[in-house]
Amino acid sequence: MAKIGIFVGTVYGNALAVAEEAQQVLEQQGHKAEVFEEATLEQWQEYLQQVVLVVTSTTGQGDLPDNIQPLYAELCDQLGYQPDLRYGLIALGDSSYDTFCGGGHTFDELLQEQGAKRIGEILLIDAIEVVEPEVFAQGWVEEWGTLL
Ligand SMILES: Cc1cc2nc3c(=O)[nH]c(=O)nc-3n(C[C@H](O)[C@H](O)[C@H](O)COP(=O)(O)O)c2cc1C
Repeated sequence: MAKIGIFVGTVYGNALAVAEEAQQVLEQQGHKAEVFEEATLEQWQEYLQQVVLVVTSTTGQGDLPDNIQPLYAELCDQLGYQPDLRYGLIALGDSSYDTFCGGGHTFDELLQEQGAKRIGEILLIDAIEVVEPEVFAQGWVEEWGTLL
């Protein structure tokens, strides 16, 4: 069973609701999962040999929310390489923006550059089509949890 850190980027709480649902699903599968809303680099580093799930929305024009931006910047500036990290990514956005799920894609690109291994495809959740993102994400999380 895996130890999973769930790192959240949110403005209005939708991504947090998805993260909390994911935590429940993963714990029901027997994993150990913890949610981080204002994560520090130190908290991320506890998972470098483990698994992280990044759940982030997009704000502005394709930007990461303020609560996850500092972590992203620290990963860019201070880590560089994290080849033992396995991760999954859930991106929330709105397809009426050109920069659909830009925040999630930005985070994914960084982790790819730094040698982390993504488990599964990115789950994209479009606010135009999905009313309850935490319900929508359940099936994806169940499957993702079995791949760990
Ligand atoms: C001011 C504002 C800017 C946004 N910019 C984008 C964007 O550039 N790209 C995108 O895909 N979604 C964008 N969205 C949509 C949000 O990402 C989407 O509504 C998401 O579900 C919000 O999740 P949250 O409550 O976790 O922040 C924007 C929403 C707002 C209110």
